[in-house]
Amino acid sequence: MRNVLIDCDPGHDDALAILLTLANPENFRLLGITTVGGNQTLEKVSENALKVLMAADKRIPVAKGADSPLISPLKVAPEAHGDSGMDGPVFDKITLEYDNRHGVEFLKDKILEAEGKVTIIALGPLTNIALLLKTFPKVKDRIETIALMGGSYSSGNATAAAEFNFYIDPHAAYMVFHSGIPIIQAGTEVSQAASILHSEIDEFKDGGRVSRFVYELLEFYAKFSKGLNIDRSPIFDACPVMYILHPEIFTHGDYHVDIELQGNLTAGMSVTDKRVWYNMPKPNTKVLLSVDREKFVAYLKKAIYRLDTE
Ligand code: BDR
Ligand code: CA
Repeated sequence: MRNVLIDCDPGHDDALAILLTLANPENFRLLGITTVGGNQTLEKVSENALKVLMAADKRIPVAKGADSPLISPLKVAPEAHGDSGMDGPVFDKITLEYDNRHGVEFLKDKILEAEGKVTIIALGPLTNIALLLKTFPKVKDRIETIALMGGSYSSGNATAAAEFNFYIDPHAAYMVFHSGIPIIQAGTEVSQAASILHSEIDEFKDGGRVSRFVYELLEFYAKFSKGLNIDRSPIFDACPVMYILHPEIFTHGDYHVDIELQGNLTAGMSVTDKRVWYNMPKPNTKVLLSVDREKFVAYLKKAIYRLDTE
């Protein structure tokens, strides 16, 4: 059983990652959720985190973290996630409340209070995690690993070179990759492999309450890929969670990864050192490269059905 904290910006795929975690309590002791400005403003993504918990009928503390990146202004992504950051499902009223600590303070408290080490699952820009490591360096020894969605092995999505989470806050990503904490990186390539076919989305339509919520999420989320004439949608943020649950369905490589801060064309790019050369820097990251798509989707479905029938 692993102690975990999820830092996120829901986000349709963040929502699926949270549900996958909640559906596997034998594997994850979810100590809390923190939110960060990313896919939408901090207010919106924080409300979305509460909505996910309401949909799953779970009570997990949620604390709001940073509203904008360390240095650059926040750029949100309504083109993929809509005006609310999680368009699709409709809620009348949010009935859960926030923990009143700042997210960074909350993360520090949860890590220091936990029995044993904690895994951080980071699914948005890494602003909160960078602030945590900088402000409370004593937490470092208590973090087992940071399993994150961000960056790429070869190609970006927000720009030709940079993936969205790292593009939004490259300085935070830099601090995390220079922290010395072991990192599991799910970038754009493994996320593309972890796609749900649009023809598979209907299978959630007639399930229970959680399935219906997932159906409504995916129906909206699929519009972005459909607009590009693509028959599937990548479930980016579920990848690091799925890797912890089922490493056997992934391929990976161990590499030294660094973050480009300033290139005109490459700011926010994660640079994977693939050389076979002398005097190489030691690997700091387990880079996930691919996944068995069918097994990924099957395990995701199983998790959602499990939440339906609890
Ligand atoms: C990442 O950016 C966000 O839009 C998704 O939630 C995911 O974390 C993919 O680049
Ligand atoms: Ca996200």
